[in-house]
This record gives sequence, C-alpha cells and structure tokens, in this order.
Amino acid sequence: MDPDEPDDLMVPLKEKSLGGWGLLQIAAGTGFAAYVMWAGFLMPGFRRVPLKLQVPYLPASLAQVDNVMGLLQGRSGKLVDLGSGDGRIVLEACRQGFRPAVGYELNPWLLRLAAFYAWRAGYSGNVMYRREDLWKVSLADCSNVTVFLAPSVLPLLQEKLLSELPEDALVVAGRFPFPEWTPIGTRGEGIDKTWAYDIRVLRCEKDRRSGGTKV
Ligand SMILES: *[C@@H]1O[C@H](CO)[C@@H](O)[C@H](O)[C@H]1NC(C)=O
Repeated sequence: MDPDEPDDLMVPLKEKSLGGWGLLQIAAGTGFAAYVMWAGFLMPGFRRVPLKLQVPYLPASLAQVDNVMGLLQGRSGKLVDLGSGDGRIVLEACRQGFRPAVGYELNPWLLRLAAFYAWRAGYSGNVMYRREDLWKVSLADCSNVTVFLAPSVLPLLQEKLLSELPEDALVVAGRFPFPEWTPIGTRGEGIDKTWAYDIRVLRCEKDRRSGGTKV
C-alpha cells in the first residue's frame, strides 16, 4: 500500500475545483470589490465638496456610540447627526427615544446602508437620513447634535454651530474634540472619548474673551 495514494488522488480534484481560471476570477473579484468600496464609499459624497471639507468615513465603535448616548442622557426630542455615515448613532438615539432622529450624509452608499440597518432594526419610520450637505443645512432648530468628523473640518464647523444653534443646544463630538471649545463633560478614554459642549456656555465664553480684548 502506498501511503501517498490518497494525496495523489486529491490533487486533480483540488485543481479542478480551484484551477487557474478560478484563481483569476477570485483575484478579479476581490479587485473589483476593492474598487467598488473605493468608488462607492470614498468618492460620491466627496466630488461636490471642496477637498478641505471632505470627511472620510469611519464607523463609530460600540463604545463611542455608548459614550455619546451617555453624554446625551436626560435629553430627548430631535437629534441631528452631522455626517451620519452608516447611521449607527442615529439608530441608537432613536432606540433611546429621540424623535425625530435625523442624519445628514452625502454618500448615497452609506445612506442606503443606514436605511437597511434601520429597516432591519424595525425603526424605518422613526429615523430620517437626508442626503444633504451639512454645510448647507440650517441647524437653527437642532438642539441635540452629534458630530463624528475629521479634525480638519472642526474649526469651520465650530463657527457654523456657534452662529446657528439655539441657546439650549448640546453638541456631542466623538473621536476628535473641537479645537477651541471647552467641554462641559467628557466620557470614555482614548479613541472612544467623547466630548459634550453647551452652546450657551461657549457663547458666554466667547463674549467674555472678546469683551476682554476690547478693554
Ligand atoms: C433636545 O433635548 C432637549 C432636552 O431634552 C429638549 O428640550 C429639546 O426639545 C431637544 N431639541 C429638539 C430640537 O427637539
């Protein structure tokens, strides 16, 4: 008896199931998948937005979502997520009673994904994802705002939020803090850290500072 016999028999079988053509198909498939990921997730939302204001998509972690919700505790009503991505923050806010829970996102693939997640969780009717440029929407009626964006856009967003948000607004930032604002609270550590900002406090601070320099 030849102990190698079973192996020899296996070789043609293996080759048949995964021949050169098969390998080529897999290579082409993964290449194509990578291209679709790149084109779909990184490109569409960006083309219409100046390079400086482009925000790469990075989903929030469970701990980040948890920390955001912790900082929003006790609040309710309308919640707006700027750059809502796959909608996980909007969906969790909805679960915790915020109505309506609205997300602004430019990327149509992420919007579809978000809509699918909402449908799967049974919250289709309660969450709203809007394909709108967050730089163009008015935030005058948003007092519960969450932001998970890249540090490069935060200085500009700071100005928009300060000038448009109502007096009782609370802004919760994840991943990166606003560079010039003093938070009223933080939650979590490291990459999961989130910051809460009270617009009334920030406006007082700003007035005090500009008042100080005038004298
Ligand atoms: C945001 O939360 C506060 C506190 O719960 C609530 O009074 C307010 O109505 C909410 N904002 C909006 C626009 O619903």
